[in-house]
Amino acid sequence: MGGPFCRFGGGMKERLQKILSRAGVSSRRAAEELIVAGRVAVNDIVVTELGAKADPDQDTITVDGKQLGIDAARVYLVLYKPAGYMTTLKDPQGRPLVTDLLTGVRERVYPVGRLDYNTEGVLLLTNDGEWANALAHPRHEVDKEYHVRVRGQVSPEQVRRLATGVDLDDGKTAPALVRLVRESDSNTWLSITIHEGRYRQVRRMCEAVSLSVVRLKRVRYSFLGLEGLKTGEYRYLTPEEATRLRGAPRGEKAVRPTATGPVKKREQKPVGKNPERKNAFTAKKKSKDAALPEKSRRRSH
Ligand code: URA
Repeated sequence: MGGPFCRFGGGMKERLQKILSRAGVSSRRAAEELIVAGRVAVNDIVVTELGAKADPDQDTITVDGKQLGIDAARVYLVLYKPAGYMTTLKDPQGRPLVTDLLTGVRERVYPVGRLDYNTEGVLLLTNDGEWANALAHPRHEVDKEYHVRVRGQVSPEQVRRLATGVDLDDGKTAPALVRLVRESDSNTWLSITIHEGRYRQVRRMCEAVSLSVVRLKRVRYSFLGLEGLKTGEYRYLTPEEATRLRGAPRGEKAVRPTATGPVKKREQKPVGKNPERKNAFTAKKKSKDAALPEKSRRRSH
C-alpha cells in the first residue's frame, strides 16, 4: 500500500478496519463502512479505500476527528432485549435502539450479531472488536437456544423437519435440537437450539414448516442465559464469562436451566376433549426430545 500514511515504511502495517476494530471502535464490517463513508483519517488524510493499511504505532488515526484511544477499557455486557428494539446503532425510522437501554454505560458498545426488532432475549454487546469478531466467526458458532411460541398445534412431522433441517432459500439448515416445551389449546411453545446464525433463521425455519411465530425469545447464548435480568435490564459479564464465551466450544450447555417467563416448563397434561388430539399429543411427547443423536449433530458442523 502506498500513500502518505505509510511514510514510515518498515513499521507494522495493518488494514485500517482491523486496527479500528481492535481499538474497540466497531466491528470490522462496521469499520469498513466508516472508512468508505470518509470518516477515517490517517495522518490527517481521509482514507476511503478499503485495502488501506496503517501502522497504529506510528500513524495518527482518527475517526470523526477523534484520535483512537490507546487501551480503551473493554466492556462486555449481556442485555435482556425486549421486543420492539432495534439492534442497529441507528434507525432511519426512529424506532427505539437497544443502546437506549444502556443507561450508565459510557463506552461506545455495539451488539454482537443481531436479533430482530420483535425478538427478545439474550443480546451481547461490547466495545471489543476482536472479541465480537471471534464470536461472530462461522468457525466459532456456538449453540443458541430460542423459545418460540407458535400458533396452534405442532405435529411430530413438523418437529422432525425442524430438527433434521429445512430447505431455506439460502440452503438447508443444519440439524437442530427441538423440544416441545408446552402447549395450550391455541399455542405451542418450542425450544429450538441452533448453532448457525443466519438472517431470521428461526422465523424462516418455522415458516418453512407452516408454523406461524407469535413470540420469539433467545434464552441462551452458549452457556449464558437471562438469570437475574428482567426485560430491558443488562449486566456486565465477568472477565471469566467473557473469556469463556470467546473460547466456548459449540454444544456447551447452560449451567442452570434457562426457561424463563411465559415459557416456563409445566407439567404436560394430555389434552382431553378430542381423542385425535390426545393421540397427536402422545406422538409429540415421544418426539419431545427430537434431538438428533449428538454424533449426527457434530457431523453437520
Ligand atoms: N432467528 C430469528 O428468526 N430471529 C432472531 O432475531 C434470531 C434468530
